[in-house]
Amino acid sequence: MTPRTMATSTDTTQRRLAFPFLLQLFPSTRYQGSKRKLAAEIVDHLRDLHFTTVLDAFGGTGAVAYALKEIGKHVTYNDVLNFNHQIGLALIENDEIKLADEEIESVGVRRRGVSYDDFIERTFAGIYFTDEENRWLDVAAANIHHVADGFKRSIAWFGLFQSALAKRPYNLFHRSNLYMRVADVPRSFGNKATWERPFHEHFRRFAGSANAAVIDGGGHSRATCNDALEVSGSFDLVYIDTPYVNCAGVGVDYHYFYHFLEGLVRYPDWPDLIDPHFKHRPLRRAVGRWNDAKRCHAAFRDLFDRFRDSTLAVSYRSEGTPTIDELASMLGQIKRRVRVLLMRPYQYALSTNRASQEVLLIATD
Ligand SMILES: C[S@@+](CC[C@H](N)C(=O)[O-])C[C@H]1O[C@@H](n2cnc3c(N)ncnc32)[C@H](O)[C@@H]1O
Repeated sequence: MTPRTMATSTDTTQRRLAFPFLLQLFPSTRYQGSKRKLAAEIVDHLRDLHFTTVLDAFGGTGAVAYALKEIGKHVTYNDVLNFNHQIGLALIENDEIKLADEEIESVGVRRRGVSYDDFIERTFAGIYFTDEENRWLDVAAANIHHVADGFKRSIAWFGLFQSALAKRPYNLFHRSNLYMRVADVPRSFGNKATWERPFHEHFRRFAGSANAAVIDGGGHSRATCNDALEVSGSFDLVYIDTPYVNCAGVGVDYHYFYHFLEGLVRYPDWPDLIDPHFKHRPLRRAVGRWNDAKRCHAAFRDLFDRFRDSTLAVSYRSEGTPTIDELASMLGQIKRRVRVLLMRPYQYALSTNRASQEVLLIATD
């Protein structure tokens, strides 16, 4: 087995660098609602509060958890999706392990004596990727599942997820739209060169960027994979960034948008999880309360109540359901002081709503 490759930076040298120094190493991702561009500002607002342990309850890309790790906090990254959990392992729980160059280069190469399934090639023909790309994915997914070291495996998953997103129109899996990529037509959007770049080239780049982002948190951070309400333990501070439901009641369904990544990480079970009624072969729907306009108020109330002993910090946007005022009022019922801080103007990728304002609610005793 290839020896583990250690990160070079130490806990102390990291601390001496002015924040946000290491955050700049955090890989840019193509994920709905990522707070990468706001993470430094969010953490700047939080760092004056007294806390050591912190839960990022809806971790996503891990950008905020990573910024908190950089300033020396004991971070628990949580996300309900298994593929995101791998990202939390790679960048938050992992303090030192990297994927070696030869492991990166061989990820999509068939190994002697291994029999590979062709599930992706059979199931997703003509839907998201070309046949040749599907064959590469079948091999890479099997090879990654066989990586013995959990942190190395998580870095490899990170590389594979980002590669798959980069090659997708809209960076999503919500439609069968390979035709948009391959049709020979003039285009006013998208990046044909990125879509057509081979998987192994994307993978080399993204696995390399995850390697470069491994920082030493002194063994204090971890990644969990639970419904936010089910995370055990107590935390000085809980950072909350739920899926967003707009004022028309339409929510972001992460399970639906990113089902293919969830399938990759659950490859052995994937055939049993698919909903065959849809042409684009998503996983069977798992609509939670967080993207349902009728149930998200109660979900917020339950979450605030579950973590009522912690300082609560909520990232939110105007024009949402519930409204900012409703959230502030819910927080005011369990906390003595609630502040609503306006964040600098920032436009989300794919968002057409230029009036939407990003805020951070901080509730303390
Ligand atoms: C707005 S995103 C978080 C973005 C994150 N702060 C970042 O910077 O990338 C919301 C996340 O909540 C996760 N999620 C959805 N339902 C959840 C639940 N019940 N418990 C925990 N996480 C959940 C989604 O998978 C998604 O990654």
